[in-house]
Amino acid sequence: MKFIKVKNYEQMSRQAANIISAQVIIKPDSVLGLATGSTPIGTYKQLIKWCQKGDVDFSEVTSVNLDEYVGLDIENDQSYRYFMNTNFFDSINIKKENTYVPNGKADNLEEECANYDAFIKSIGGIDLQLLGIGLDGHIGFNEPADCFEKNTHVVDLHESTIKANARFFESVDDVPKKAVTMGMVSIMQAKKILLIANGKNKEEILNKALFGPITPEIPASILQLHPDITVIFSEE
Ligand code: GLP
Repeated sequence: MKFIKVKNYEQMSRQAANIISAQVIIKPDSVLGLATGSTPIGTYKQLIKWCQKGDVDFSEVTSVNLDEYVGLDIENDQSYRYFMNTNFFDSINIKKENTYVPNGKADNLEEECANYDAFIKSIGGIDLQLLGIGLDGHIGFNEPADCFEKNTHVVDLHESTIKANARFFESVDDVPKKAVTMGMVSIMQAKKILLIANGKNKEEILNKALFGPITPEIPASILQLHPDITVIFSEE
């Protein structure tokens, strides 16, 4: 594991954007696994700048997102599809049809989950997976549980996650109670993983996840078993 500690959010974002652009420059048709949350916003902003300057080209990239709330329309400004469009895809030259986010409004969610995994497999898996980490150690929406969930699945969000994500909604009651999330197989089979975390409040969980016992009670702890993971942490 490569652990990089930086001074502030800007540096974390720049370093992460550097790693993602290097990936795309070396392999223009990369499959990028992408994440939502407040942590990657600065990374996306930096990539947008470089793309608009012509320094990085996303025209051949395919992206697969980690997760989506169940029941939100894609026009809903809290859906992860909306987040990705407005924070990233609308401002770079990626082809929209090559961007994939699980459909949380699918009539048959089980089928949607199975199809999502089959699709990721069919395109050869993920080259670089960007991850944030939740305060309870979740990655994507893989919540603390008795076992690691292998496949893309529907998850009941934990009370603490609902509370943490309430800041983006009008009230806590508006936060969906369920989500679709990629499971551990697609994440762990990514050729490279880039985990970014920002802020003092993430330090404790990050330490537990990266240096404590590997347990499904801290889903991110499974990342210790990945052969090529870079972690960028800013304590500011
Ligand atoms: C959400 C997302 C995760 C993200 C986490 C942390 O629940 N599903 O993918 O890593 O929150 O979010 P933030 O970056 O806002 O701290």
